[in-house]
Amino acid sequence: GFRPRRGWRVRVIVVGAGLIGCSIARFVARAGAEVTLIDRDEPGRHASWAAAGMLAPQAEADASNDFLSLLLKGRSLYPSLAAELLAETGIDIGYRTEGSLLLALTGEDEESLVGRYKWQVQGGLAVESLTPEDVLRLEPSLTRSVRAALLLPDDHQVENRLLNAALQQSAAVAGAELIQEPVAEVLTERGIGVRLASGEELRGDAVVIAAGSWSGGIRGLPRALPVEPVPGQLLAYRPDPMPLSHVVTTHRGYLVPRRDGRLIAGATVEDPSFEARTTEEGKEQVSAGAAEMLPMLRTLQVREHWAGLRPATPDRLPILGADPDVRGLFYATGHYRNGVLLAPVTGELIGRLILGVAPGSDLTSFRVDRFATHSAQQSVENGFRWKGRPEINSV
Ligand code: GLY
Repeated sequence: GFRPRRGWRVRVIVVGAGLIGCSIARFVARAGAEVTLIDRDEPGRHASWAAAGMLAPQAEADASNDFLSLLLKGRSLYPSLAAELLAETGIDIGYRTEGSLLLALTGEDEESLVGRYKWQVQGGLAVESLTPEDVLRLEPSLTRSVRAALLLPDDHQVENRLLNAALQQSAAVAGAELIQEPVAEVLTERGIGVRLASGEELRGDAVVIAAGSWSGGIRGLPRALPVEPVPGQLLAYRPDPMPLSHVVTTHRGYLVPRRDGRLIAGATVEDPSFEARTTEEGKEQVSAGAAEMLPMLRTLQVREHWAGLRPATPDRLPILGADPDVRGLFYATGHYRNGVLLAPVTGELIGRLILGVAPGSDLTSFRVDRFATHSAQQSVENGFRWKGRPEINSV
């Protein structure tokens, strides 16, 4: 870390200008650092754009552990972030607090809800067990096939594309500069820096790898970054009037009602590949998972269909923190299904580390060198343990 001194500005280079990179850039720029954001593409045009914007720790985590704590911390930052971004940029990020409904439509769903309810109540989280009648009172358009449900009043949502715009703008207002060009190499000899595709070299006090699915392909890093792209396809409908106010999920899909009239449905979880393609099969799978919850969708036209890449590590946990060997090199990548939720907390944690301030959270579980001790097989098992069925849509 570096302690800012009067008259001396920390120079920070952030590779990747998605939600994670912009959030880090914003944090350190506001603290007085001189920041350069670098992206090979239009900033925030990949996972940050493709996401559905669920802020859903209680639907996404499978147990009370360090990962859940990180997700909860991420969630807790949203109310103030939304207010700050509105004041700084005039952009309303569409933070909505109606909460999420997790539906059980099968016997198997019901069993998993019981387990989830138990560990969440024990962990002191807000969770309410609902009868099918309760569910229909809250959301009368939902299927009559609900067997049981959980109301997660604190699992909220945000319009992630507006969040992209707001974080980019906020970072820029704080002085961060954007270079739209690929990074050819990270330079670790004679100080830290990067060489751009054009050949230009930039030197700084800190380089942060926040390039999502592309992080593993960056040359010059002191270790392999096992981040692989997991494609997902999503759909949008435009029901009028909007039939839902809550985010609604099952183990096979989710629905996110937006203020602009779009009802977003997600998502496939496909085999790792850099090809984010929309397919008929994907469309059928997502629309089936959506119509199972909201039968009116069976006859409603799909208005948009897109695909994106989730940056995934072998254990499906993010990589957060400093490189143990190379001074000034930091990682903030591999956020998989939770990049929107974790963007603000990642900005704060990594930003604090860069500035030499205690991050205030234990990042041991997210260390970059944890993979060295795993066998490949172990990693795969750990990675898939969180849901057990990676091949299908899952919450
Ligand atoms: N967070 C939802 C998804 O990755 O599909």
